[in-house]
Amino acid sequence: MKVRIMEISKLSKSITPSGTMAISNKARVLREQGKPVIGFGAGEPDFPTPEYVIKDVQIAAEDPANHKYSAVAGLNVLKDEIVRTSKLYSGIEVGQENIVVSNGGKHAILTTFMSLLNPGDEVLIPSPYWTTYPEAVKISGGNPVIVDTEFDDDFKINTDQLEALKTNKTKILVWVSPSNPTGVVYTKEEAEKIYNWAFDNDIWILSDELYEHLVYEGVTSPSPAQYDKTLKNTIVINGVAKAYSMTGWRVGWIIANTEVIDMAKKIQSHATSNVSNLSQIAAYSALKNGLNETKIMKESFNRRRLNAIDKFSQIENVNLIESTGAFYLFPDVSYYCSNGIINGVNNSIDFCNWLLDEYFIAFVPGEVFGKNGFLRCSYALSDENLDEGLNRFSKAIKDIK
Ligand SMILES: Cc1ncc(COP(=O)(O)O)c(C=O)c1O
Repeated sequence: MKVRIMEISKLSKSITPSGTMAISNKARVLREQGKPVIGFGAGEPDFPTPEYVIKDVQIAAEDPANHKYSAVAGLNVLKDEIVRTSKLYSGIEVGQENIVVSNGGKHAILTTFMSLLNPGDEVLIPSPYWTTYPEAVKISGGNPVIVDTEFDDDFKINTDQLEALKTNKTKILVWVSPSNPTGVVYTKEEAEKIYNWAFDNDIWILSDELYEHLVYEGVTSPSPAQYDKTLKNTIVINGVAKAYSMTGWRVGWIIANTEVIDMAKKIQSHATSNVSNLSQIAAYSALKNGLNETKIMKESFNRRRLNAIDKFSQIENVNLIESTGAFYLFPDVSYYCSNGIINGVNNSIDFCNWLLDEYFIAFVPGEVFGKNGFLRCSYALSDENLDEGLNRFSKAIKDIK
């Protein structure tokens, strides 16, 4: 039989699949073989969704109104809560007309790029970056321009770098504080400098605020929307995934001026229509009930963060920024990724494979986030596993020689 070979799109060939997959697939296979794998790769809280959210959704499931299509941009009750909490937590004054509810922050980001980018438009992305940003830019026809940062600068960008990379095609700057993968949080002063540069150059800021509530030691940075009251240049992305332990419910949102929102609505109306009504009710319930559960979760994260910092600091030739946000640390393991220190290990992918194969501990290699020589350590795992996993890491290093 003759098989016709279908030609797939150039776009799909240019997209890199989610880089966390390779290690997590390998970790899964090892687990299935009965190996005691400890995973430091989680991109989600290891806590249940709050009980009251589940109860409210159970009640909502009985309501026939929730079994039908609803408005593309979101349910009014949820949008009202987004308006209220955006003012309360982020100092942003917006109305319902400034909001589109999407299928998670990820979908909100893609829709935003699709709403703003023309072919060839450039988007500045600080590196190390969350893996989705460059791919979402490419899907939307734009060109990602990576702004590389250094460990010695706490992985923070500065305006000299931005100025050097700016062209007449620069359209958007991606801003994420606290950051995935580094956990780094900018100070108010640092943030203001960057915002002013973007505003002065008429460059949009896409501010990803998914981790806004997960900051420790009281460190936080203001939203650019506080300085751009009419949202002329600012788009805020937020959602319930991380702060309320609701990754699987898939609810995020875009906050922007009405021109952008109208574009985003148009695109979403053809892509997905409304987000599942029950998920929207879940998000409404989470916002309405406040941050008590988040605070409890944060106490655990902070305890583990301090424990992990302490353990890493005792490991020879591993350097660490004591990040104060999200649930990630991003240690510098470059010493072990070259120079023939470990047989066959020439980069952080090799190093992570070695740690997994020999010691059954799974980290995400820095290459996934655009930075060889590092690994992402999520502390969204139990205290016992964190202890055991980092003790194994320490033993691995001591065993070299
Ligand atoms: C920085 C950042 N932004 C956005 C998201 C997307 O979150 P959601 O689960 O709401 O799509 C993530 C998830 O990992 C993230 O780390």
